[in-house]
Amino acid sequence: MLFSALLVLGICLIPVHSTPAGEHLGSPLLQQCFEEAKKVVDDAYKYSREESLRRVRREMVRPHDALRLLKQPRGETRSAVRSADYMAQTLRLLHERVHHVHKRSLNATDLLTPEDLRTLADISGCSARVSLPSCRTTPNLNEYRTATSVCNNLNDPRRGASNTPFSRWLPAEYEDGISQPRGWNKNRTFNNFMLPLVRQVSNNILNTTDAGVVNDTEYTHMVTLFGQWNDHDLTFTPFSPSIRSFSNGINCDESCDRTEPCIPIAIPLGDPRLPSGPDSCIPAFRSAPVCGTGNSAYNFGGEPNKREQINALTAFLDLGQVYGSDEKLALFLRDLENDGGLLRVNTEFRDNSRELLPFNPLQANMCATRKRITNDTTVREVPCFIAGDVRVDENIALTSIHTLFMREHNRLARLLKRLNPQWDSETLYQEARKIMGAYTQVFVFRDYLPHIVGVDAMRRQLGRYPGYNANVDPSISNVFATAAYRFAHLAIQPFLARLDANYREDPRFPSVPLFKAFFTPWRVVFEGGIDPLLRGLIGRPAKLNTQDHMMVDALREKLFQFVMHLALDLGSLNMERGRDHGLPGYNAWRKLCGLSQPSNQAQLAQVLNNNDLARRLLQLYGTADNIDIWMGGVAEPFVRGGRVGPLFSCLIATQFQRIRQGDRLWYENPGVFTQAQRSALSRASISSIICDNTGITSVPTDAFSVLSNRNRLVRCSRLRSLNLSAWRERACTGETARPRSAGPQGAQGPIGPPGPPGKLILNSNATQPQSAFSVLLGDYNPSSEKIIHFHQVLYNKQNLYSTNTGLFTCVIPGVYQFSFLSISIVRVGDVDLKVNSKLALRGFKVYQGGNHLSSGDTLLQLEAGDKVWLEASSGTTGLSTKSYFSGHMLFPDRT
Ligand code: HEM
Repeated sequence: MLFSALLVLGICLIPVHSTPAGEHLGSPLLQQCFEEAKKVVDDAYKYSREESLRRVRREMVRPHDALRLLKQPRGETRSAVRSADYMAQTLRLLHERVHHVHKRSLNATDLLTPEDLRTLADISGCSARVSLPSCRTTPNLNEYRTATSVCNNLNDPRRGASNTPFSRWLPAEYEDGISQPRGWNKNRTFNNFMLPLVRQVSNNILNTTDAGVVNDTEYTHMVTLFGQWNDHDLTFTPFSPSIRSFSNGINCDESCDRTEPCIPIAIPLGDPRLPSGPDSCIPAFRSAPVCGTGNSAYNFGGEPNKREQINALTAFLDLGQVYGSDEKLALFLRDLENDGGLLRVNTEFRDNSRELLPFNPLQANMCATRKRITNDTTVREVPCFIAGDVRVDENIALTSIHTLFMREHNRLARLLKRLNPQWDSETLYQEARKIMGAYTQVFVFRDYLPHIVGVDAMRRQLGRYPGYNANVDPSISNVFATAAYRFAHLAIQPFLARLDANYREDPRFPSVPLFKAFFTPWRVVFEGGIDPLLRGLIGRPAKLNTQDHMMVDALREKLFQFVMHLALDLGSLNMERGRDHGLPGYNAWRKLCGLSQPSNQAQLAQVLNNNDLARRLLQLYGTADNIDIWMGGVAEPFVRGGRVGPLFSCLIATQFQRIRQGDRLWYENPGVFTQAQRSALSRASISSIICDNTGITSVPTDAFSVLSNRNRLVRCSRLRSLNLSAWRERACTGETARPRSAGPQGAQGPIGPPGPPGKLILNSNATQPQSAFSVLLGDYNPSSEKIIHFHQVLYNKQNLYSTNTGLFTCVIPGVYQFSFLSISIVRVGDVDLKVNSKLALRGFKVYQGGNHLSSGDTLLQLEAGDKVWLEASSGTTGLSTKSYFSGHMLFPDRT
């Protein structure tokens, strides 16, 4: 809080592009700490970069190195992470020095003037992270997205932009209240139980063999990989670039000490694969903190400012994984050598004369895996590919989807140029990019999400487009990236199928075990290109996540295994990441979604529809409250028609609802596309994109459903490509293919609900007794059909409202005014104001600003002893802590 306030203040005083160089901190001690911190951080970054290069060059990349390199912040993200590190290390050093000298805690104000803190925020680069850019100078703001999505929201230009914090739907829970992951101190208990080691949970619950894998009878492996592809449009949580601890120089991969940024994963005794013992662990790294969050502010007497994590990507469905989410990368990915608006392609290799992605010019090549995998030292290595998202090479099925969409951009740009020869390179690029963005919105909402969140959530939350709402915050929530959207890690097959033109195993290049398909772009270059892989995705089923066959060994025992050394375990990583990010436990999230909170084995067994699984989970965790959310979420049986349980269905649907409604440039928002263009876009399909950009000649009409009598292979010639005629600009008639800029802003919307009552102003002459209360919900969620207990008291001097029972009891007869507002990000059912069990007023429900609201305001004549309360029906879930209830007496009864 302290820092947010200071940073905001800083913005007002400092021009956006001021150079911090030459600024000095008032206190010499602070100046010295900053310089030292800067050196510590710069040295650690430099050392880490050189060490990484050394390891890559000597082909000594270990699995955790691969993950670290994959999650390295780049470009703008690196600046964001570096600023946060400068700030945090300066304050850590200052704190240490002061403690050393004074042997006691001091307040910020004793040491740092507000001016000092402001300057520190400037010179560390933290101010720049929150400065608000002016949208007035951004060209074509109503036509095209910026790469970073800055200025999508004109009132709050950084909303949903890349390199902003993940949002929180429930407050973070850290072991020390601010920054330490739960389970950091080994013997600490939570709800009277110690947390199990994540690797133990993984061994006991997730374990399966390849032979045990059950195939999905409805959905193809394309559904799974499309999920990963789509995730890489929405979330990327960077690590700190440092390999070693800032405070003591310990290398995270040489020690099992828990010291920032190291978060080693302990190996339980008797682990079937990994060496156990006190000094045995899988090295892992914490996600980088946001500027000014975590310990820094707290150390100086500021309000605890819990650690937050950075999303390097935009929250919008804009195909950032193709185009890049930062301006520099976006520019680099364009082919600027001609005026066709094309994306850059590989200049060395082609795939049966079709385009491949360009190679990454980085010196360190972690994709040089061919010699090791083929055991042949004579073969040629190739560099990694480069695309809008750095994880393009993570597996070759994903690489093939990247290649497909890059080709589609270029195909569209070429066609648009033919239609509109007068368009310049920039227009061609932006128009093709805009069509591609609309594709992804159509495919995700029309084709993908119904298979994931199921029919009920689709109907409730993701049905008809409700229109743009600038008050809806589309930012990706921490729980979505860190838990819910990782559900599909359990839908990945142990093999990536490669099929021939008849959709049979390709004898020349047979299917690849998944663990031999990580970072292997050479397989795309030298082993038949992307066609066999795409056929494998649309022609073979996904793995079905069943409660007794969860995660395949390729991910749990062989993740990024380049040499036989401590391969990673994705299940453990997911749970450890949840603790690293301070995600509350399973039941807290169930409560947010209005679902029951199992408190014993029988109840958990009912929720999971599986007694044995409930028993095994409780053996590990003791209580369902403590179950890591990712683990609990993926253990639930599927909702109707979906591939996640009720908890993840709620969280995923809520996220996409916000992404759509908070996007000013959503393809259905009037003015973004013409009616004719929208109707052409609504007929686009993944299958036809495959036909248009590969040598594949027959495809299933629906790329997400397994081949069957209802979904047969059809010849590509029978599928229609996107009809671009609606994009033809007719210069002579003045008709335009591009919708004109939006007109003036419309009239103001309806007035919002009343705010909570102010403090009761007592008339000093008043002889009459007063009676009033005003309460906020605070940290509490009502269970179904129950009285809502408001916990956080703003005013309750006469103690007439009981936070224990949730009842207001009238002592003085008279006329009273009651107001309430219930806010939910998920949904509100009926919220009823009751007097002695009788309904006095049912809340008025509206959907506004991304929230479901139920509000009411009424006058009631009460007798002494009357009781008044609020009751929520079972449809009400996820009430915000800011929901309130207030009442005050207007006139006493004088009779
Ligand atoms: C072969 C396939 C896949 C592999 C090897 C893989 C691997 C990984 C790894 C190593 C991480 C980082 C773990 C950590 O340290 O926190 C991760 C994160 C993640 N994965 Fe996957 N994954 C795969 C497929 C998928 C799929 C199919 C989905 C979803 C439909 C998905 C969703 C996510 C999400 C949301 C994250 C967090 C990303 C971030 O914010 O940085 N992954 N995955």
